[in-house]
Amino acid sequence: MGSDWAGEVAGFYARFRRGYPPEFIDLLAKSFGLGAEDVVLDVGCGTGQLTLPLASRVRGVVGMDPEPDMLAAARAAAADRGVANIAWALGGSDDVPALAAVLGERSLAALTTGNAIHLIRHEELFSAALPLLRPGGGLAVVANGTPLWRQPAPWSRALRQGLEQWLDTSLVSCCGTDAAARERYRDALIAAGFTRVHEQAFDYSADLGFDELIGGVYSAMGGSSFPSPDQRAAFEEHIRRAVGPADQFTEHVRVAALIGHAA
Ligand SMILES: C[S@@+](CC[C@H](N)C(=O)[O-])C[C@H]1O[C@@H](n2cnc3c(N)ncnc32)[C@H](O)[C@@H]1O
Repeated sequence: MGSDWAGEVAGFYARFRRGYPPEFIDLLAKSFGLGAEDVVLDVGCGTGQLTLPLASRVRGVVGMDPEPDMLAAARAAAADRGVANIAWALGGSDDVPALAAVLGERSLAALTTGNAIHLIRHEELFSAALPLLRPGGGLAVVANGTPLWRQPAPWSRALRQGLEQWLDTSLVSCCGTDAAARERYRDALIAAGFTRVHEQAFDYSADLGFDELIGGVYSAMGGSSFPSPDQRAAFEEHIRRAVGPADQFTEHVRVAALIGHAA
């Protein structure tokens, strides 16, 4: 059996999961002084949401993920857009220590991880990352907004209620985006030896149609919770009833990066 990100989830992720606005990529590029000679490693790259826009700012990017279906969708997205300076690597955060031997110390300008830190043993990743980073470079723990069912809007609360009824469980996890988790990552970056640890964010609003809302939900429903094709019409009907007849759902997205620098 594949991971939570295998199979159809990867397709929904590639199609519906929000990407990162150029202003946020500017912010990362400025923080780490990214330039034409630099190489970046994106750990937990998924279908390349962060990897692809970073690639236009540097010499090359390594997009690394343990799920082959996510990597296949990322590779297809890069080919569609004619992006040729990304190496897609099947692997996870546990492979990062060996990269210091393979690539050499101080060989990377930045290590990024977008919406994946809650799936990773973060203390080990941070310790392994530091020797890989050149001076002035650093690590960014990126949170791309909050889950669709955890936003401070009536439609989001209704979505959460509908999902909890369907799944018969409480949806308590914020996937590493909540303040307490960010505080833990911040402390761990400092403990690993990163300097000037701070948060930077870019805020924007986006309107989703119902299809995008459902697609976004599917992109986050891995494993056994993912409705099978014959359950899907009933699931969508159930969510439609929960959120009501509106055709536009406005989300306020805060894209936040917890940044630590290598001295
Ligand atoms: C929510 S997706 C994030 C994708 C993308 N980075 C983004 O910003 O949207 C999480 C990804 O983390 C990957 N993942 C899970 N465990 C991991 C690990 N130990 N190391 C690296 N990636 C991991 C999953 O396969 C999945 O593709």
